[in-house]
Amino acid sequence: MDDAGLRRRAADVVPVVSVVTPTFNEAENLPALVDAVHAALGTLPHEIVVADDDSPDRTWEVAERLAGTDPTVRVLRRFRDPGLSAAVLDGMTVSRGEYLAVIDADLQHDPAILPEMVGLLASGTVDVCVGSRATEGGGYGEWSAARRLVSWVATLIAKVLLRVPVSDPMSGYFVITRAGYEQTASQINARGFKILLEFIGRNRSLRVAEVPYEFRNRVHGETKLNRSVIRSYLLAVSELWLGRQIDPVFLLYVLVGLVGLVVNSVAFALAEAAGFPLWTTGLNKAVDPIYTSFLFSVQLSILVLFVLNNEFTFWEDRYRGWKLVPAFLAYEVVSIIGTLIHVAVFTFLQNAGFLLSVLGTGPARVVHNLTGAVLALVVNWFLNTTYVWKRRTRRI
Ligand code: GDD
Ligand code: MN
Repeated sequence: MDDAGLRRRAADVVPVVSVVTPTFNEAENLPALVDAVHAALGTLPHEIVVADDDSPDRTWEVAERLAGTDPTVRVLRRFRDPGLSAAVLDGMTVSRGEYLAVIDADLQHDPAILPEMVGLLASGTVDVCVGSRATEGGGYGEWSAARRLVSWVATLIAKVLLRVPVSDPMSGYFVITRAGYEQTASQINARGFKILLEFIGRNRSLRVAEVPYEFRNRVHGETKLNRSVIRSYLLAVSELWLGRQIDPVFLLYVLVGLVGLVVNSVAFALAEAAGFPLWTTGLNKAVDPIYTSFLFSVQLSILVLFVLNNEFTFWEDRYRGWKLVPAFLAYEVVSIIGTLIHVAVFTFLQNAGFLLSVLGTGPARVVHNLTGAVLALVVNWFLNTTYVWKRRTRRI
């Protein structure tokens, strides 16, 4: 019997392996992927589940055409709740195999290691097998320095904060046993890109192994990895790290706030060094010279923070075009309120001398200042999320 005939027969029996492939604009890659998966798995009964988000390039049509002659191919054309992880989970839901594999459709993941990964799970000692670019024998292929840096930082965050036992937690290529999947699936947050991290981060009892492979270059189409993917990655890590009680977006807000603090300090130091105070004294003797440096650094950090919060923290509700103007003005007002709260709390605590006797003058100043900053931060968060970015499209 020829290959196609064997597969036709295989479609009648329950597949051992279900290979889920999420697709968005992969029409040109899909046929080659299907061939490569068949070549790798041979006569081992398997099915290929294409989870497509109604791609504009009609990937679903290509998939349906393939399914017409190849009954091992199944197609999910999804119309709602788009996203890589959500698509993968839907694909898994309809899978029938004992082992559930996830592989990118763009051929960057090498299907040739599928049998080895499945073999490890079949041995019964492992629940999840990760296709890894970071272990001995694997590789990232030709990546730009920027992409390497992003991946390196993201991997480090996952390893340090979540202590996941893999060298490539960002991999989108893995196989999990049906039992492992069923134990964990209900806890998964389907937002974002990092479906593997969700599985091994939520269920610590899963035994994980890695098989190396070399990440290949994309021949057709383009990557969907962008700023929003990096953002949702940080949201996912924050949620896995701290649980769902703390709004993960608040953490991004704090992170961005820390960047603002650095901008503020640097700008202040530069303004002082550039002799800003003299300018003021020349213009208006009544103004304390330090105020120009202070006002300059505060104003600059407000601007930088607005851009970062708009482009990153509140990405889903970001403003564009002329609407940026009223949004910035509202943000400015909120920031001024925050600055006033900061200064007022600091002055009040200093005057009341709360911690002076306990900590001494220097450390007490620091703590008083920090108290003001934290209070201002929390008040600003509520004002910003109520009046500036109203977070209508909350997708948490
Ligand atoms: N259904 C669906 N919906 N599929 C999607 C979506 C989506 O919103 N976004 C991306 N995909 C599909 C792509 O069509 C592709 O098959 C796969 O998911 C991976 O997307 P790419 O856009 O090719 O990601 P990448 O190659 O830049 O990212 C690689 O590195 C990441 C981290 O290092 C992949 O290997 C990821 O799996 C990996 O996590
Ligand atoms: Mn890719």
